[in-house]
Amino acid sequence: MRVLLFYLLAGTFAAFCAAEKLVVCNYEAKAHLRQGQGQFSIPDLEEALRYCTHLIYGYAAIDDQSFKLVPLNENFDVLRDNYRLITDLKRRHPKLKVLLSVGGNDDVSGIDGELNEKYRTILESTVHRLAFVNSAYTLLKEYNFDGLDLAWEFPETKPKKVKTGLKKAWSSFKSVFTGEKVIDSNAAQHREQFTSLVKELKVAFRPDNLLLSLTVLPNINSTVYYDPKRLSPHLDFIALHAFDFYTPQRNGHLADFPSPIYELIDRREDENVDYWVKYWLNGAPANKIVLGIPTYGRTWALQGESKFDEFPITDLEGPGEPGPLTKEAGLLSYPEICTKVTTRTVIPGGLTKIPDASKRQGVYAYRYPDNNEKGGIWVGYEEPETAATKAQYVKNKGLGGIAIDDLTLDDFRGVCNNNKFAILKAAVAAL
Ligand SMILES: *[C@@H]1O[C@H](CO)[C@@H](O)[C@H](O)[C@H]1NC(C)=O
Repeated sequence: MRVLLFYLLAGTFAAFCAAEKLVVCNYEAKAHLRQGQGQFSIPDLEEALRYCTHLIYGYAAIDDQSFKLVPLNENFDVLRDNYRLITDLKRRHPKLKVLLSVGGNDDVSGIDGELNEKYRTILESTVHRLAFVNSAYTLLKEYNFDGLDLAWEFPETKPKKVKTGLKKAWSSFKSVFTGEKVIDSNAAQHREQFTSLVKELKVAFRPDNLLLSLTVLPNINSTVYYDPKRLSPHLDFIALHAFDFYTPQRNGHLADFPSPIYELIDRREDENVDYWVKYWLNGAPANKIVLGIPTYGRTWALQGESKFDEFPITDLEGPGEPGPLTKEAGLLSYPEICTKVTTRTVIPGGLTKIPDASKRQGVYAYRYPDNNEKGGIWVGYEEPETAATKAQYVKNKGLGGIAIDDLTLDDFRGVCNNNKFAILKAAVAAL
């Protein structure tokens, strides 16, 4: 009896603690474009929403003429009512907060294309910032969103190049003289101006209790653009997307763990979760920091000679082949991976998984190419166990919670283990 009571109390206590944590769930609207079993529609969210405290709709855009916040896909978001259908979910989930996110590397419209220059020009003028703030307020209210998330598209850091000998000496010589390392010569001003924008948004949002959050996108140098101490009083939470340190788009011939928790030997010091968290803890309160957890893997095409006794692996051939559901080179969703992975017997077309006993670096799986040099793949990915390890890290550090990126790449049909949203659930259970 006593034992039972103990478990009952412990259970209630655990549920209470977990309820305190933020569970931010990212939803990529473009997932409706995937075909067959990969297609994600609103009813698919239902099972996940029992676990999410916040749902973030990705993504809205900035109009490069008016600098207003606008829907990225007018047809789907507005004409086909997706904004409305998403915020209507609050009727059945009254505690859920739904935010609209701007940027997220999805907004590549405008003359500058992928350089995302508008995310800097908008900051430089108080008139442009005002146009953004006012339009954001109007758009949020019109569609009943609870707030705005800034997944701001600042320029990414340059990927690391691995060079040896003479090449190495030449490239460091060259970078000093060509200023190759400078990605934004007005970075200091942009940092100031971004802080101003955040303040201006919060002032406009406060009377209506609209939320404001920041998503720090992968490979954005926080030291350059974000001032934790001055930003955090105006933000409800800060989601650190501390992953994709290595992607086949950034590093075509170089593969490494996409999101280790701790620093690994011979890697750049900022290429791990712990570095990001420490940076933000120096200025922002722990309970506002939420840790991003991806639900996918990054893949590279593998050659027969590739060996993994040393990381990064250096002899790869660019992005791995697209998966059957996501159809994007260099990316596999968790269900696309789990259905292929095996630790014991080698199944045809299967991937051999190498678990992570250290709980520091993450897992990977691979398959050597066939006799025609086809089908070789290396994938570094997140799975329920590694997601739980990250959630434990969040708990130990007293952080605010987790941000799942994103629901549409998790196992939302339960094909792996008959357990829908296995990554989300494993992470929540460990909080
Ligand atoms: C990030 O910015 C800081 C400050 O400018 C700099 O010292 C550091 O090298 C940068 N990190 C990367 C990866 O570029």
